[in-house]
Amino acid sequence: MFGVGGQHESYLLSHMEPQSRMSLISRINPMWYPDIWELRIRRRLQLLGLRRVRQTVIELNSVAELSKLFGWTARPTLDDPEIHQFDSVRDVNERRLRDAEVLATVVANVQPAAALDIGTSTGHSAAMIAINAPNGTVYTINIPPEAADKGEGGNFITHSLDRQVIGSYYRERGLRNIVQIYADTAKWDPRTVPPLDLALIDGCHDTNYVVNDTRKALSRLRRGGFVLWHDFSPDHAERYDWIHAVCLGVERLLRSGLVRGEIYHVRDSWFGVYRAP
Ligand SMILES: C[S@@+](CC[C@H](N)C(=O)[O-])C[C@H]1O[C@@H](n2cnc3c(N)ncnc32)[C@H](O)[C@@H]1O
Repeated sequence: MFGVGGQHESYLLSHMEPQSRMSLISRINPMWYPDIWELRIRRRLQLLGLRRVRQTVIELNSVAELSKLFGWTARPTLDDPEIHQFDSVRDVNERRLRDAEVLATVVANVQPAAALDIGTSTGHSAAMIAINAPNGTVYTINIPPEAADKGEGGNFITHSLDRQVIGSYYRERGLRNIVQIYADTAKWDPRTVPPLDLALIDGCHDTNYVVNDTRKALSRLRRGGFVLWHDFSPDHAERYDWIHAVCLGVERLLRSGLVRGEIYHVRDSWFGVYRAP
């Protein structure tokens, strides 16, 4: 029944949730299968779930490579002290700085007239976009505390923040080109924002939300506009469950054909960068 290498097995494994797949593999009696098969199965289980992501993502050594690819020359403004902070092992290899370089470089070169920032939190990404695109407007969305407290809005990273905390950083900086929206993106109507040149997806990290938020952003994105997913890093997908959930969302978008073409990932960053055709 569990024919190694058969099409049926590939289909079943690729459509199982990761936990079920691991539980299934852990029940295989090694006495029945030579070690080589077990190793091959384990490897395939890891790869199958994110097969399209792994086929699509182009790994770049630095943000300079991203600029080279798109012929960009503008230098970003990186003036947020938090990007040099180190809190835990998640920040090794200057991950925050790499993230900031990717986001700010894309923004500084695209100069979006309208940008969407899903997941405001205290407003660091909104501020970075607003500073690097001073003539554009940033529409930033966060679930209101009342909805989050009622358990609406998904599981991963749906913390409930007071309204005065949401966006507090960009307000302290006096940035005026940011429009705050309080909404659960599952219920939010994207037609309330103008056509977009750039969208950052960093709200709820549940797979369904990543798919929903990207769909809504794409429905407003101009041709050639950019989508960036935060907490997207194929190399960390097996280690951190919320990164796995985000990568799985991108996998579904690729399989559905909504996302077509290359996705770039700069080494040590947690951003996926996609230019819509
Ligand atoms: C990872 S944080 C965003 C970080 C932010 N981009 C920054 O640079 O600081 C995710 C944010 O998304 C919000 N969020 C979670 N679920 C949401 C939903 N369903 N709709 C809108 N916002 C949501 C959370 O309240 C949280 O503030």
